[in-house]
Amino acid sequence: MSLCFSLNAFTLQSPESKSYKTQFTSQFIKQIQVKSTPFTSPSRPFNFNRERCELVRALATKPVDTAVSASFRSKNSKDINVLVVGSTGYIGKFVVKELVNRGFNVIAVARGRSGIRGKNSKEDTLNDLNGANVCFSDVTNLHTMEKSLQNLGFPVDVVVSCLASRTGGVKDSWKIDYEATKNSLVAGKKFGASHFVLLSAICVQKPLLEFQQAKLKFEAELMKEAEEDDGFTYSIVRPTAFFKSLGGQVELVKDGKPYVMFGDGKLCACKPISEQDLASFIADCVLSQDKINQVLPVGGPGKALTPLEQGEILFKLLGKEPKFLKVPIGIMDFAIGILDFLVKIFPWMEDAAEFGKIGRYYAAESMLILDPETGEYSAEKTPSYGKDTLEEFYAKVIREGMAGQELGEQSIF
Ligand SMILES: NC(=O)c1ccc[n+]([C@@H]2O[C@H](COP(=O)([O-])OP(=O)(O)OC[C@H]3O[C@@H](n4cnc5c(N)ncnc54)[C@H](OP(=O)(O)O)[C@@H]3O)[C@@H](O)[C@H]2O)c1
Repeated sequence: MSLCFSLNAFTLQSPESKSYKTQFTSQFIKQIQVKSTPFTSPSRPFNFNRERCELVRALATKPVDTAVSASFRSKNSKDINVLVVGSTGYIGKFVVKELVNRGFNVIAVARGRSGIRGKNSKEDTLNDLNGANVCFSDVTNLHTMEKSLQNLGFPVDVVVSCLASRTGGVKDSWKIDYEATKNSLVAGKKFGASHFVLLSAICVQKPLLEFQQAKLKFEAELMKEAEEDDGFTYSIVRPTAFFKSLGGQVELVKDGKPYVMFGDGKLCACKPISEQDLASFIADCVLSQDKINQVLPVGGPGKALTPLEQGEILFKLLGKEPKFLKVPIGIMDFAIGILDFLVKIFPWMEDAAEFGKIGRYYAAESMLILDPETGEYSAEKTPSYGKDTLEEFYAKVIREGMAGQELGEQSIF
């Protein structure tokens, strides 16, 4: 099953049965195809263990003492060991590149087959993560993860997690957004990590979905860890919408289809941020003192944009007369009601019901700061960072297509 989702339109597809389609928006109306051994002796020789961890490039950094690693902020970048989990994802890849460019010693944890539907071989992963030490391991298994880090033979200073469920399903969200992320905290700390940078999401402010609950549970445990351990800190990054989540309609509109949106097109707004800008912000979190023990909402540059405004930008770039298709949000409520009913009889449909809720959520909730005083979303209070604009992104997609911006397998974003 796959769920292709854009912040204002999404569709579910099942490869097993073409007839089983739960379709809510664009496809619903057939308009768019949106589409441990704890760290032992610093002088312990490097133990290459292919089964557990394939360290592909000889590590340039000499082993350092764990006690020293606690003060990693005073070291040169090249002597700071940054472990990146979720390194093969949309944002993770850019984070690895940015950290490598900033001179950190990056250890990127990856699966043997990575990417959407495991399309990338080890060779592809090594090319993608060029400049990092790639460690093939399993973040879902704490023991394996710890063995992998043990085999590295030197400590970790900072863990950066860009992990996320690729399916968005109920169980997978808990397995990755909570458990695997927790594994990387436990294993990272065991091998000396004293700072953890977490890629979360701004939408956890209003948690109505399973993956948001899973993320929040981990966030809470991360904060507790820092409360109880003086030498440990965190930075939690909560970005607004990614470009890939807003690009699903570009090629369709280019082909003459209308731009599909819910309600009047103003139900939700966001400040989209590019992969490069977000990666840069995340990399700042490794050393910035002012980002220590902070929850950091972040959006891209410029004003907040509603789906209506996003569509207008697109038509302007294409030089076409705007043509919108407004879909009542009630359609989604109706479909969710049916799915919620069905899931009581057929529990195996829980993911389909969850995907419906995810679609509904992003069709109506803004990806902006939720002002606790007013209970309203506030564009003004949502910080901006970076330089890449959605308009530039749309122009690029019009020229070059959506390559590299694909939504994941059953991807929720
Ligand atoms: N899209 C948006 O608009 C948006 C907005 C705000 C926040 N966010 C948040 O940003 C985060 C990252 O998003 P993204 O688009 O970069 O994610 P992504 O492309 O789906 O990447 C997910 C990463 O997690 C890894 N992973 C998933 N399942 C795994 C498993 N079973 N075992 C090992 N590794 C696994 C993937 O590895 P493989 O390559 O091996 O699969 C990949 O490296 C998410 O938490 C999301 O909620 C998204």
